[in-house]
Amino acid sequence: MKRMTISVKSGLMRAAAAAIASLLWVSSASAESDVDPKAIWERRCDQCHGDAAEFAHKRLWNIDGQLHGSRHAGDMHRFLGNHHLRVHEIESVIQLLLASSNSTARFDAECGSCHGSASEFVEKSLWVRRDSISGLGTGSDVAEFLLTHQDLSPEDASFFFDLLLHVGNAR
Ligand code: HEC
Ligand code: HEC
Repeated sequence: MKRMTISVKSGLMRAAAAAIASLLWVSSASAESDVDPKAIWERRCDQCHGDAAEFAHKRLWNIDGQLHGSRHAGDMHRFLGNHHLRVHEIESVIQLLLASSNSTARFDAECGSCHGSASEFVEKSLWVRRDSISGLGTGSDVAEFLLTHQDLSPEDASFFFDLLLHVGNAR
């Protein structure tokens, strides 16, 4: 009886030691990947999202230094914490994605002289909902209006529409 208790105990000890060893192994492995967000991306994100820069360019926005998803309102840190990333990896992957995401720079360059910064313009003049925008004073549909404004091509009009949508939903 006594011997059995002992052997159960030492079995448990061995299992505990093995668990600790594997935890140590996992944490040193992730400390390594920490250094290089590109390696994290290749191992754990690439299979679903493809190239990081292309993904960021197609879907993500840098608004005042914060990363925003294409239709993803809410906190990107929290989203990524529930999405294949460990807490200590999130910031470096965010920086990687920010580097290739869209920004409001084009608005500043092409619209800023008349409208000020994108956030100012959105705040003062537009009513931005999830998928649509209207002029606060004019009530006009901004998606349609942009096609008639400043000789914008349909492609540019849709780029600026998306930009305003993101700025509006980021606040
Ligand atoms: C198994 C497939 C899969 C893997 C692996 C994966 N993702 Fe995703 N990811 C998705 C899907 C599907 C969505 C869109 C659904 C959603 O928004 O919840 C998404 C959404 C996102 C978004 C928001 C995009 C947007 O437009 O709002 C980001 C950012 C993102 N993933 C980053 C990552 C990162 C970083 C990794 C690796 C650590 C990763 N994903 C790994 C499937 C995956
Ligand atoms: C030369 C000055 C000028 C530039 C540059 C300019 N706009 Fe405008 N924008 C205006 C004026 C003036 C109006 C008022 C409506 C009109 O055109 O009669 C306006 C109206 C708008 C409206 C509608 C606001 C409402 O209340 O309905 C949007 C949206 C808009 N501009 C977006 C842009 C974007 C995006 C760019 C850059 C591609 C841009 N504008 C560049 C002068 C400018």
